[in-house]
Parts: sequence; structure tokens; C-alpha cells
Amino acid sequence: MAMDGAPLTNAQARDVEALLHPYTNGVQHRKVGPHVIEAGEGVYVYDESGKRFVEGMAGLWCAGLGFGDAELIDAAREQMGKLPYYHLFGGRSFEPAIELAEKIKEIAPFEVSKIIYQSSGSEANDTQVKLAWYYNNARGKTEKKKIISRIRGYHGVTIVSASLTGLPYNHTKFDLPVSGILHAGTPHFWREGRDGESEDEFSTRLAAELEELILREGPDTVAAFIAEPVMGAGGVITPPASYFAKIAAVTKKYDMLFIDDEVICGFGRTGNWFGATTFGMEPTSMSMAKQLTAAYAPLSAVAINRDMAEAIEAQSGEVGTFGHGFTYGGHPLGCAIGVKTLEIYQRRDIVGHVRKLAPVFRAHLDRHADHPLVGEARAAGLMGGLELSPDKASAATFREPGKVGAYLMNEMLKHGVILRAIGDTLAFCPPMVITEAELDELFGPLGAALDATHAWAKAEGHMG
Ligand SMILES: Cc1ncc(COP(=O)(O)O)c(C=O)c1O
Repeated sequence: MAMDGAPLTNAQARDVEALLHPYTNGVQHRKVGPHVIEAGEGVYVYDESGKRFVEGMAGLWCAGLGFGDAELIDAAREQMGKLPYYHLFGGRSFEPAIELAEKIKEIAPFEVSKIIYQSSGSEANDTQVKLAWYYNNARGKTEKKKIISRIRGYHGVTIVSASLTGLPYNHTKFDLPVSGILHAGTPHFWREGRDGESEDEFSTRLAAELEELILREGPDTVAAFIAEPVMGAGGVITPPASYFAKIAAVTKKYDMLFIDDEVICGFGRTGNWFGATTFGMEPTSMSMAKQLTAAYAPLSAVAINRDMAEAIEAQSGEVGTFGHGFTYGGHPLGCAIGVKTLEIYQRRDIVGHVRKLAPVFRAHLDRHADHPLVGEARAAGLMGGLELSPDKASAATFREPGKVGAYLMNEMLKHGVILRAIGDTLAFCPPMVITEAELDELFGPLGAALDATHAWAKAEGHMG
């Protein structure tokens, strides 16, 4: 039986027998079946019944140029015909890998020396940790290996990147996190700020807590701090203005690397090429994926500064090789699409477009900030979140976390808008090419969906 009570379609029935779905309740899925998406065009996708949806999450925060972009399809076709596969092992190379690395260096928010490719954001962050260890061994700091991430940070799902991730579902029953990965506090002022504390004082406190953690562990054992500019999958949490500067003062004091996870925020999403610029970060390295190829092919990259690059290169000479790399890291298809994607972002001035639409996007969210179900409306560029609460004044959480958020997400789906509920925060991250008229379509049903959810939440006793 599908969610609407109809029998499962052929594709749904086959899916239920054959697939284990990521981030899905397997017991529930067996009953309701998948939502099968068949095609995409612009900011829309079409399901197997032919129904059209606004893709309000750009897939998984990644399809920045929407669906069916003819230039990207041509670039992919051309590369497939010319060199469908090659690798970068043993000193081999190919033009799109070189060109894309050069382009990333040009637009990076700090002076980047070298790029190393992978296929996913998780692999990029795993690579970051290995590079931090390798680098600290190269400079004789052999005890300096612990990595500090943050509660509610999201950095992926491989063993180390899932350990960096600070969300319960990624650890529970997986025997994670592994040792040597620590979690600092979340810069979520509305929820975690104390009575009478200003945003700036809150940032000062978080930086002081980070310093205490480092001192407790021993500064000689702590290698790096990793952070997303805006916490995406943790609930679209935008940090206070002075937060990263205060954190950077601490990481610098203790000779730590600062890893910037730009997997969601990179390539225009927050209104600058990188979230580091929007939020005043000073990274020593950064991870990129998702919008690097507008999600038309899997590709991720890590950019490192000169210090790291020189130490790593020299050490690989002593060891005899740099013993790291993935068969598909820097796949020619991904690199060729990446080159074309960055060219399109520049030619069509995607950063300018995001900046132009950001106030309109924000106004759509703010319009609902006083709704009785809404605790806080947040946005940076074209990513946003509506955090729901049974009592805005006390930033209370619901008795059964996640239920009300899921209900609202499903209400929006009924109105033809695909969004994602992160617990009780409804996230918005449409393709960056969305127009003002399409934003109207995306947000049009939100008032009615909030009202329906509020009525249901009251009837079900979720409002406290
Ligand atoms: C900030 C961030 N880092 C890393 C990842 C992991 O990327 P992937 O799913 O490609 O492994 C994600 C995925 O959403 C992410 O949002």
C-alpha cells in the first residue's frame, strides 16, 4: 500500500524487494514504497504518475543548475566520447583534471596550492583527516592527531566522516564515533544562547569552550577543527557574525588546521563563491563536492594551502609514494562537467543571481516567522530553514521530535513542492537558477501547509 492507500506500482513493488534506502525508515518504507522520480527539467522533477514538483532542495543541496542543462549534457557527451575513463595514479594526468584544479585555485577563498580529487563529500572529509595526520607526521608533530568537529555538524557517512558528523542517527548502532574525534558546541544562537546573552557574547563563550576542550585534551594532541560555514544537514544553522573569527583565534593559537567543509555552501549558495567569504572563515584547507559539478556527475575535491602541499610532497618522496587515492577520484567525466559548471556559473553570473534573489527568498521565509508553529526563520543566500517550535519564546522542542516537521514536509509535497524536514526544521535549498516566479511557486503553499500542520499538531497534542 502506498501512502495514499493505493496499491504499489510495479516500480514501487520492485524497489521494496531490491533496495535498501539511505536515510529511510526501512519498516515504514516496506509499507508505503518509494516516491519514484522519472525526469527533471529546470527546477522541476516529474514522478512516475507524471505529477510535477518544484525541487525545493536541489536534490540533496546539489543540483545548482537544475535539471536538463543542455551545456552540461553536451560537455558530458563530449568527454565520454573522448576519454571516458582515466586516473591520476602513478603520475598520469588528463586535461580536464588540470583545468578544473586551476579554476578552483582561481576562485578559492584562500591561497590554494594543490587540489586532490575524490568522488564524494565523505571521501573528501576522510581525505582531510588523513592529510592532517600525514602533514603532522611530516612536520614531526606525531602526537597531534585529534580532530574537533561540532555537534550537529554534517561531514558524511564513511567511518571517519560519520564520526566527524555530530548527529545521533549517524552514530547510533554503528559503534561511532571512533576515538580521536571530538565535538564542540553548535553556533545556534536562537536555541542555545543564554538569557541576556548577545550573539557576540554567545560566540565568545563558544570560542572559550573550544579552548577549554583543547586544553583538556592537550594542545599537542589536537590537529584540526572542521566546520561547515552554514550547518546544512544539521538544520540550516547560520552562525553569528563574529563566531568564526573568534574560533579562528583559538585554532591559530594552538597551531591547528582549519578545515572548511564547503560541500553544500561552495559555488555560490550563500551569495559568494564560498561560504568562507560570507562568514569570515580563514581555512587552511577546504572540501568541495555537490555543486562542483552541479551534481551531473560525482566528484569531490580537497584544496590545501602551500604549507601542507610542500610538507606532503616532501614526505611522499621519503616514503616512496603518496599512498592515498581512489580509482574514480578525479574521474574525467566529473572533471569535464566541473570545468563546464564553473564556466557556466561565471558566464551566467550565478553568484550575482543568488545575491539578487536572496532578499526575496528571505522575505518568503520571514513572512511566516510569526506563525504560531514557527520558532525561527533562517537564511543565507538561497538556503534557508524554518525551525518549528510549540513555544517560540522559550525555544521549546516538541515532545516527539521530528513528527511535526515531517507532517509539514508532507503537506508541502501534497502541494507539489519537494522539501526536507531535518527534525523539526523545514529546509529550503532550491536550484540556484530558480527565478522569482518559481520562488513564488515554491513558497506559495507554505502558509496553507503551516496552518494545516498547526491544526493537526494541536489536535494531536503536539503543541504542549
Ligand atoms: C557539509 C557536507 N559535507 C559532507 C557531506 C557528505 O557528502 P557525500 O554525501 O557526497 O558523501 C555532505 C552531504 O550532504 C555535506 O552536506
